[in-house]
Amino acid sequence: MPVTLLVVGGGRMGEALVAGLLRQGPWQPGDLAVVDPDPARRAALSALGVALADVVGTELTASATGAVLAVKPEVAEPACRTLGAAGITRVLSIVAGMPTGRLEACLPAGAVVVRAMPNTPALVGAGVSAMSGGGAAASSDLEWAESVLAAVGTVVRVPERHLDAVTGLSGSGPAYVFLVAEALIEAGVLAGLSRDVSRTLVLETLRGSAALLAETGETPEVLRAGVTSPGGTTAAGLRALEARAVRSAFLEAVLAAAERSRNLAR
Ligand SMILES: NC(=O)c1ccc[n+]([C@@H]2O[C@H](COP(=O)([O-])OP(=O)(O)OC[C@H]3O[C@@H](n4cnc5c(N)ncnc54)[C@H](OP(=O)(O)O)[C@@H]3O)[C@@H](O)[C@H]2O)c1
Repeated sequence: MPVTLLVVGGGRMGEALVAGLLRQGPWQPGDLAVVDPDPARRAALSALGVALADVVGTELTASATGAVLAVKPEVAEPACRTLGAAGITRVLSIVAGMPTGRLEACLPAGAVVVRAMPNTPALVGAGVSAMSGGGAAASSDLEWAESVLAAVGTVVRVPERHLDAVTGLSGSGPAYVFLVAEALIEAGVLAGLSRDVSRTLVLETLRGSAALLAETGETPEVLRAGVTSPGGTTAAGLRALEARAVRSAFLEAVLAAAERSRNLAR
């Protein structure tokens, strides 16, 4: 069966994308191929039933409508040159910090690059990606890229200059949330709960709060006020957080991660 989408790099993100595409349909295993030089990664992917290869070859690219670039930044440019040499003219890159212009320069003139920043909840189909098109991307290319990324979550479009901010916010965001979860579980234990009970309470509090935020469409401020009665327990807890400048710590975290992303591109 002719392959229509090539995924270069079968690591965590490449695998999440392929699994998401197969889960969502209309993609079938025969539509997809993954290229990864690591035999262990290819073995891990074999259950998905897609074509697997160690190098990009023209037998894979001949019928492909595009390729997803899901390799580490340090090998992105050579991998893109290989794709261009094999006839690929449309690339969706999820490589952190790599501008579209640098990848375009590795491809034949006029080739399309769409750049996206997904996040790790993509592994369970609950990611969020922001994407932007390079100089040659037409609306049909953006729709193609969006249809691929939508397999693993929500997609938003942003100008490319905003992708460092996206990296600092939603790209790194899961780590901030995991840190909060870790701290809250510890706090529950400190307050006398068993670790198991504390974990369940924290997990469901995070899940439920996110659902409330999403389903009511309310602002976080309104929902927070709703659980903060005057002089009550939540007000006492929030005061302790504000006294330790937790809000400002989050502002600094996002700005620091965005700055680091900007530096990676240099
Ligand atoms: N994980 C995240 O949260 C996240 C979020 C947003 C964006 N990203 C971006 O997504 C990209 C992939 O991340 P990841 O976490 O999936 O990395 P990963 O797990 O290291 O996967 C990359 C895979 O690509 C393989 N590879 C290396 N050179 C290749 C080549 N020339 N052709 C084909 N495959 C090649 C690697 O094999 P070897 O190990 O043998 O080198 C590895 O199996 C990165 O650029 C990252 O910045 C990741």
